[in-house]
Amino acid sequence: MTMSRFLASRALWLACACLGCALLGALWLARQAIGEERSGAAAIAQLVARLSALQAAGPAERAAQLAALRAINQSARMRHLRLHVEDAAGRVLVDATPKGDLVHAESQWEIRARDGTVYHAALRWNPDSELREARGDVVGNLAMLGAYSVLLLCCLSWTARRAFAPLQQILDAIGHYERKDYSVRLPAMHIRELDQVRRALNHLAGALAQHQLERRALSRKLLDAQECERARLARELHDEFGQVLTAMRADATYLVRKSAHAPMLQIVANDLAGHCARIQDEVRHLLHRLRPHGGQPDGRVACLPRLLQDLVRGWRGQPGQAVRLDCDVDLGGAVLDPDLTLTLYRMTQEALTNVMRHAGASRASICIVRRGNEVRWCVEDDGSGIGDIAAAMQRSHGLRGMQERAWAHCATLCIGAAEGTGDTRGCRLSAAFPLPAPAHDTAQIPQIPPIPPIPPIPPIPPIPPVPPVPQIHQGSQPA
Ligand SMILES: Nc1ncnc2c1ncn2[C@@H]1O[C@H](COP(=O)(O)OP(=O)(O)OP(=O)(O)O)[C@@H](O)[C@H]1O
Ligand SMILES: [Mg+2]
Repeated sequence: MTMSRFLASRALWLACACLGCALLGALWLARQAIGEERSGAAAIAQLVARLSALQAAGPAERAAQLAALRAINQSARMRHLRLHVEDAAGRVLVDATPKGDLVHAESQWEIRARDGTVYHAALRWNPDSELREARGDVVGNLAMLGAYSVLLLCCLSWTARRAFAPLQQILDAIGHYERKDYSVRLPAMHIRELDQVRRALNHLAGALAQHQLERRALSRKLLDAQECERARLARELHDEFGQVLTAMRADATYLVRKSAHAPMLQIVANDLAGHCARIQDEVRHLLHRLRPHGGQPDGRVACLPRLLQDLVRGWRGQPGQAVRLDCDVDLGGAVLDPDLTLTLYRMTQEALTNVMRHAGASRASICIVRRGNEVRWCVEDDGSGIGDIAAAMQRSHGLRGMQERAWAHCATLCIGAAEGTGDTRGCRLSAAFPLPAPAHDTAQIPQIPPIPPIPPIPPIPPIPPVPPVPQIHQGSQPA
């Protein structure tokens, strides 16, 4: 049914109902008026009957008849008419003007009783009572009209509210879509226009949900590609630098051995061997950052607690690092898929790097626990806090990268002040990752091909102790 038809039909029904009520009211008023007319006519008829009885009455019944006439005369049923009776001497027997308000013209006649007594009767009328009646009618009609209008308005507003009630559902659904929750669908509506809006909104929500799904899948693909690229870089670094550095170190060691006769040369060769060892360490560290899962013999991603232990151990071992690090991982026996494991690892890695770089904290904690069907991740510190979060997000890539990683796994990164950090604000990053990932979501995400393992770096041959450098005498030439 179209909106206009719905409203017109409801208005018609309502108008009929209200008219019916008004008709009932009018009938009631008419009944009242007819009743009054009838009792007035009855009173006149009684009056006429009593006057006839007075004419026929002897002196004994006269007083009773006059009393009955007075009673009828004083009753409200007489409405605007009053009887006035005088005897031949002008004495008033039935007074039409007890309050002196009957002032208008009269019709009068003479009554001659059987005993010869003469009465002068007059029927006087007063328009005031008619005016009062007319006023009463007008007020009654106005009251009826007022009641009718109020009733009509109430019914119309009720109808309009009922007709537009589905709009609230539509607005609620739009609110969900604004918050990027496209799961809400609207039920069928009986107003055609609203149903069209509902269908369009449902279609839009479906398309947006699909789009969101595809974007998530794409995002995860990109993250996978990033991991693959990092793994490739790690392999190249390992293969190119690892071998060459080992060879350089062996050469330097050889030089140290063979330059016993040239102390300066030996010192330089020794330094060279030391530099090579340091670069090798750096490369090893870099390889670990690029590919935390590289330790697994089959190249697969290691389990999250192990990865995080390595990460925390790495930071604890950093010289000059004074932040106390706590790590609590309790997955309740759940085995996370490699994607999620890497996401949680990378997010923790970035969060800890931020703590060390920006927070000036004395303590930081990592907490990853499973609660029902989700994994809750949180990194908290007691440092200076982020301050303007929107500006921080704009400034660089770290937080945004974390946000994207969380989003790709249907979670939302929450950034705020740490709980119970006293006078410092601290920083708390958290996200809840649903477990397991929805089937339709994972179906579209290509699996990461297993990354070929990196062969272990060959052990570095021990550098023989450098013989003591002989004293160089001024003027003497080396042999
Ligand atoms: N734990 C923290 N405590 C205080 N400030 C922080 C913290 N983490 C982030 N910030 C602030 O938020 C900003 C943005 O962080 P983000 O990680 O995005 O960038 P970044 O660390 O400066 O650079 P990068 O892109 O290399 O990560 C930082 O510059 C810093 O000011
Ligand atoms: Mg950062």
